[in-house]
Amino acid sequence: MADEIRVGPASSLPPRTVTGSGGYAVGNIGGDLFALSRRCRHLGADLAGGSIDREGCLVCPWHGARYDVKTGHMVRGPQGTFARIPGLGTLNMLFTRVLPLRRGEVVERDGTIYVR
Ligand code: FES
Repeated sequence: MADEIRVGPASSLPPRTVTGSGGYAVGNIGGDLFALSRRCRHLGADLAGGSIDREGCLVCPWHGARYDVKTGHMVRGPQGTFARIPGLGTLNMLFTRVLPLRRGEVVERDGTIYVR
């Protein structure tokens, strides 16, 4: 279909992994698939290179901001040096309340994953 982006075979996205396809970071949390726009709202890291933590959040590979994959909201701000800047984490989290990561619909058909 023209408005779908092919991600790849379902077998290429096992639980707790994230990959990239088009403008999306696509991941698998215990069999539940998600797709979020792939640029971190902090400094634009590619979230397709991120990881999934124990709580099922997508973690940015650069500074560890965490995203709720169901809403696209940042639920923990950038870590490390950035965590010591007063208000920065809160500001980033509030920003994604207004402008969350875009969510795509993930479908699996004939063993292949697509995002639309
Ligand atoms: S670029 Fe994602 S937390 Fe900094």
